[in-house]
Amino acid sequence: MTANCELPTVYAVRLANLTIRHKIGQQRSSLIVILGKLSVLMNKKYMITIISGTNRKNSNTGKIAREYQLILQEKGIESDIFSLEDVDVMQYNEAFRLFENEVLIPTTHFIIISPEYNGSFPGVLKMLFDTSRSHEIWHHKKALLTGVATGRAGNLRGMDHLADVLNYLKITVHPNKLPISVVNSVMGSNGRVMDKNTLIAIQQQLDEFIFWGALQTQPLNQ
Ligand SMILES: Cc1cc2nc3c(=O)[nH]c(=O)nc-3n(C[C@H](O)[C@H](O)[C@H](O)COP(=O)(O)O)c2cc1C
Repeated sequence: MTANCELPTVYAVRLANLTIRHKIGQQRSSLIVILGKLSVLMNKKYMITIISGTNRKNSNTGKIAREYQLILQEKGIESDIFSLEDVDVMQYNEAFRLFENEVLIPTTHFIIISPEYNGSFPGVLKMLFDTSRSHEIWHHKKALLTGVATGRAGNLRGMDHLADVLNYLKITVHPNKLPISVVNSVMGSNGRVMDKNTLIAIQQQLDEFIFWGALQTQPLNQ
């Protein structure tokens, strides 16, 4: 979970945690959120987290998330992947608290890859939002949505459901919500996207997101 801007941000959040350890409840969490956001702003940097929105092992969603990370890398943009396989979102415990402090709070831009399960996005992805301690950690951030399905709809409906939830959390969603339908036929046996048109659509979606999200690219040799 490393981005080029992670260290100062994470340490600022940890410092905030230490400084206000005696505070409790909402007041404490609000302060951490504000300090986390401030540290990002002061560093004039961003942090992109790609959420692989399922806890299903060996999912196509995870492979598409990796494709997004590689394409961003080619464009000179660092990002981290966070998979819902890696954290128990069913309960608020120490591991989740750490995950909030080190990933959710410093992230400024989310790319959410969500599979279509029974005509919508997975329940485990909804639990990510429902388990987080405060709605404020999501406020005023930006998100890009991509749907993944073996069926023909590419989770179009699920992305609309998800966008509604994100808007409730005051997250602004980029209008280009990309459905990747019949995902098995666009991916090769190496787990990479092989279909030319799908790659073009992802490239275009990411270029729009980079412009819209005011994300600065770094020269590739740095
Ligand atoms: C619980 C469950 C429900 C699913 N429901 C749908 C569905 O409604 N429509 C569809 O096109 N595919 C559905 N699928 C198939 C997924 O689209 C397929 O597994 C695809 O690869 C994305 O999921 P994955 O990232 O878990 O692999 C479902 C899969 C699971 C595990």
